[in-house]
Amino acid sequence: MLVDVKNTPVVEVYQMLVGLVTPRPIAWVTTRSNSGVINLAPFSFFNVFGANPPVVVFSPTLKRDGSKKDTLINIEANGEFVINASTEKHAKLINLSSTMLPIEESELALTGQTTIASTSIHTPRLADVPFALECRVLQIVPVGQGPISANLVIGEVLTLHIDNDILDQDGCPDPRKLKAVARLGNEYWCRTQDLFQLERPS
Ligand SMILES: Cc1cc2nc3c(=O)[nH]c(=O)nc-3n(C[C@H](O)[C@H](O)[C@H](O)COP(=O)(O)O)c2cc1C
Repeated sequence: MLVDVKNTPVVEVYQMLVGLVTPRPIAWVTTRSNSGVINLAPFSFFNVFGANPPVVVFSPTLKRDGSKKDTLINIEANGEFVINASTEKHAKLINLSSTMLPIEESELALTGQTTIASTSIHTPRLADVPFALECRVLQIVPVGQGPISANLVIGEVLTLHIDNDILDQDGCPDPRKLKAVARLGNEYWCRTQDLFQLERPS
């Protein structure tokens, strides 16, 4: 099969890409609106891109009607966000938090999540997750325009909160304890249970 992007509907290209580039980690993102409403939504166009300074990127695309998602509106307004851990325990609630509520309504109530104050930014983090990354926006890069076009939110991680419960005896995050979930194509998600180890070549 060959997909000629120029002559293929955007939604089909999108469905192919998200089915191929897998598994994708999920950022469960809290943001704060100008009026103080806390927004919660998942984003699997997400990863970490460096450590000096620590940099994460995620992409709230434009909606099918070409408008901005609440997360992007909030980040443009105040330049900060929190990436909260996405784990097995919360998979159904992470999914539920992708419900498109009006901007003045919070997904916190919908999902029964509570927050605690962050250390270095004004946007709170989720209380019941094993890690949270407090981030300040470095740059927002729109790529393209119209439905499903990307908005690369490049953020610097200012503070990492990590539960001691997910660390191994050397103080490193242990994937067997973290139990992260990730996105695959269609409606598929995956757990991180079928692990193997490889030593890095010198
Ligand atoms: C697991 C998962 C991953 C998602 N990843 C993305 C993504 O990377 N980019 C995006 O724009 N929407 C993504 N969505 C859809 C958004 O979460 C959804 O549009 C949400 O309503 C946006 O919320 P907001 O308008 O409050 O920002 C994802 C949904 C789920 C369930």
